[in-house]
Amino acid sequence: MDRKHILIFDTTLRDGEQAPGFSMNIAEKLEMAEILEALGVDVIEAGFPVSSDDDMTAVAEIAKRVSCGVAALARAREEDILTAAKALSAARKPRLHVFIATSKIHMEHKLHMNEQEILEAVFKSVGLACSLCPEVEFSCEDATRTNLDFLKRVAGTAVEAGASIINLPDTVGYATPTETYGIYKSVMGEVDPEGRVLFSTHCHNDLGMAVANSVAAVAAGARQVECTLCGIGERAGNASLEEVVMALRTRNDFYQAETGIHTKLLYPACRKLSSVIGISTPPNKPIIGVNAFAHEAGIHQHGMLSNRATYEIISPEDVGIPKNDMVLGKHSGRHAFEQRLSELGIRMDKEELDEAFEMFKMVAERKKAVTDKDLHAIAGEKRRSIGKGFRLIRFIVNSGNTIPSMASVKLERDGRETEDSCMGSGPIDAAFKTVDRIVRHTKGYESLTYSLEDYSINSVTEGEDALGEVLIKLRSEGVVYTGRGLSTDILEASLKAYINGVNKLLTI
Ligand code: KIV
Ligand code: ZN
Repeated sequence: MDRKHILIFDTTLRDGEQAPGFSMNIAEKLEMAEILEALGVDVIEAGFPVSSDDDMTAVAEIAKRVSCGVAALARAREEDILTAAKALSAARKPRLHVFIATSKIHMEHKLHMNEQEILEAVFKSVGLACSLCPEVEFSCEDATRTNLDFLKRVAGTAVEAGASIINLPDTVGYATPTETYGIYKSVMGEVDPEGRVLFSTHCHNDLGMAVANSVAAVAAGARQVECTLCGIGERAGNASLEEVVMALRTRNDFYQAETGIHTKLLYPACRKLSSVIGISTPPNKPIIGVNAFAHEAGIHQHGMLSNRATYEIISPEDVGIPKNDMVLGKHSGRHAFEQRLSELGIRMDKEELDEAFEMFKMVAERKKAVTDKDLHAIAGEKRRSIGKGFRLIRFIVNSGNTIPSMASVKLERDGRETEDSCMGSGPIDAAFKTVDRIVRHTKGYESLTYSLEDYSINSVTEGEDALGEVLIKLRSEGVVYTGRGLSTDILEASLKAYINGVNKLLTI
């Protein structure tokens, strides 16, 4: 049997980003779009242009920047479709993605439309989209809770109007894999018996079945999977790209399908996303979690030593998880550092490299061994074009369980150094309050308001000298800014993360 090629339609920047807590600014979306393109996704769904000026700009800028497909979402309404087409005007491979809900509950309670009105809206909107864009995808929102006969009529109408891709989303994550398989077989068999239309799947994870449902649709004949990095998205999220890709690859004996994803870039891409949105990865997350390849039980370790395949169905190297062997130390020079980065596929410009090397030297002074994981973390910190402004020069924190915490922090900005101090309810609170004081004493920022919304700390590697990574979220005027800081000292990592977040707030 021939292998089917499955298109990966990434919606991290649209369905993923629209969920609360995962928002990205335009610079971050552009950075992620480049990473997605390098990863090998076929289409990037870049936004929902009519929903905001930011989405309009993000789609237009991403369309200019990448050469893979770029999709823009539109409801089955004229204004949405015209706006989406405009946003896509510079795209090399534009795709207009039109949707309308087709389940009884959505039609009655959200759209207040009957079946005939839905069919008319589909025909009209898909026709308009086809007159403006060479490739049109149509989605029946809440397809898996839609009456099957009506679903077929809607899909047939969209095909008749010119859509070449039909998507049957499991919008509320309600379907089971067996049902999904049946729905695809039935709709495809009736609407497109000759196999001219590309059927797509788009599953949400409310019952933890998004990936299982996506691959069930592939088994039934779907040739495009819509998914997001790390599975981010509304509520429990979307099908996770890395899981779908590795499921198809690892079980290609069963699915007989392949994707164009460069799997060795999966781990770095997911890490980048988690640092951009300020969310850390759960340790047991398949493919990219720290425990995904850890073997603690003695019996497992014994098996692994005689043959890795006893307990390992994917090798960590295949998904780009860096080895944790010592690679560099404090005596390693710039040449060895640059060479190892290039072996790891990490590209940086000269200025970023200079800064990354400085940071490497600092880490190497404090840590016995600098591993590939550390290098990825260092590169992740330095390869960011935004967040310049205040810089940490030094800090002193005095704290204990019987005394109030007191911090003194010195920051530099545009060549001017400022030092201040503050008390707080703990060492981190005192340090952050001191940064706030310095920022608010800076000309132009006196009335700046923001609050700390989230704080998390993770260790990049194991051991007592491990690098700690702090992720924070600041909220200002309804917008969330993430900050990331890295150090072997958690107070320093926390301050760097906080200052990074503040700098983003000031520059964006
Ligand atoms: O989940 C969903 O139904 C969607 C559509 C807009 C494709 O995201
Ligand atoms: Zn969705």
